Amino acid sequence: MAYILILGGSPDLVDRVRSVPGHIVSALDRAGMDELARVNGLESVLNVRDDMLADMAILGDGLPVAEALSMAESMGTLFPSVDRVLVAEPDTELVLRAMRSGVRDIVSRDATEDELKVLMHRADRSPTSVRRDDANPPPNDLHRMIVVSGPKGGVGRSTVATNVALALARTAPMDTVLVDLDLQFGDAGELLDITPSHTIAEAFGSAGSLDGLILKTLLTVHRAGFYVLCTGESPASSDEMSAAQVRQLLRQLSAQFRYVVVDTAAGMNDQTLAAIDEASDLLLVASMDLSSARAVRREVDMLVARGVAPASRHVVMNFADRQSGIGVREVEAAIGLPIEVLVPRSREVKLSNDLGRPVIERKRRCAAGKAFDRVVDLIRADELVTRSNKHRGVLVP
Ligand SMILES: Nc1ncnc2c1ncn2[C@@H]1O[C@H](COP(=O)(O)OP(=O)(O)OP(=O)(O)O)[C@@H](O)[C@H]1O
Ligand SMILES: [Mg+2]
Repeated sequence: MAYILILGGSPDLVDRVRSVPGHIVSALDRAGMDELARVNGLESVLNVRDDMLADMAILGDGLPVAEALSMAESMGTLFPSVDRVLVAEPDTELVLRAMRSGVRDIVSRDATEDELKVLMHRADRSPTSVRRDDANPPPNDLHRMIVVSGPKGGVGRSTVATNVALALARTAPMDTVLVDLDLQFGDAGELLDITPSHTIAEAFGSAGSLDGLILKTLLTVHRAGFYVLCTGESPASSDEMSAAQVRQLLRQLSAQFRYVVVDTAAGMNDQTLAAIDEASDLLLVASMDLSSARAVRREVDMLVARGVAPASRHVVMNFADRQSGIGVREVEAAIGLPIEVLVPRSREVKLSNDLGRPVIERKRRCAAGKAFDRVVDLIRADELVTRSNKHRGVLVP
């Protein structure tokens, strides 16, 4: 049961949040907040109920946005585990300002009962609650973990991962995270033109254990409304992460985000295997040649033999062009799976990557942009199947 604190909420909002059962809810109006903060500081505002720290603080519709954001920021320093939610009408600029202030969600002041339920369900999954129940939470079935893999180097895994994360962020802003699991030579940060202030290695601290409470403070905000966890500069330090640590990291993120997209290194290592075992969706990236296609087939055979291949698998054929002298049918026969998406070899993709602005951000309507949109359509279609099967009580493999 999560403890939710509403700060500066209108009486109507407080009533509606209280009407969602199964949570402890406290509310402080503006005057009450000011008084407590003046006398005992911000800490006392968050510990308002018998020294119980809130799982979630809802910064209500009775506060000016600028004030709510600066409060969210201070809370992040004092209590990084408290999920901060802003009540406001979201627009792109506000979403970004909010993410930079550490706000995890924005809800409209007219949020429906269902929307409030979803929001409060998230408080149950917050790192504080997760840690209380289990330091290694099980993957969340209604959330997708999309691992982008491919045995050969340079086939376009990072291009696919960054574009897919960006496209998913359009449907789930603030609820998508991209993890660069190419621990030695990951370049997702460069492809997105972001300078990470923290890296994966830091998530595990010097003791080598994951601190779920501070994990979200280590994520870098991308301007398109999603989070990124980058690899470090030094190949040696990052490569020491164990498969168990990878699982723990991905499970923590999956408990907090609707979409977790994972970029991986070429070939197969223990970290990638662990990620694939946790995944709901596997995107297999190959380039338009038989050697790359055969390598994908061997990868799939190996994953199936080990029992770790997720049910949802899609082949993305990159660098598709007429000059390759090989047809889609031949490549499909070599892979043993249908090719569902063809990404053309394109100057736009190359240029976009070099500029650090994925093609889906710069030129969404070009052929390659549409191909990445199609990848997202496939992921979302699988998501719907999983959901509806769950409703019907069908066991999803
Ligand atoms: N469809 C495309 N058209 C043109 N260039 C592309 C395309 N896809 C990727 N590239 C370029 O090919 C190179 C390799 O792409 P990318 O880094 O995405 O591959 P990767 O599989 O992640 O490689 P690595 O093995 O280094 O991790 C990059 O320079 C990228 O800009
Ligand atoms: Mg790469």
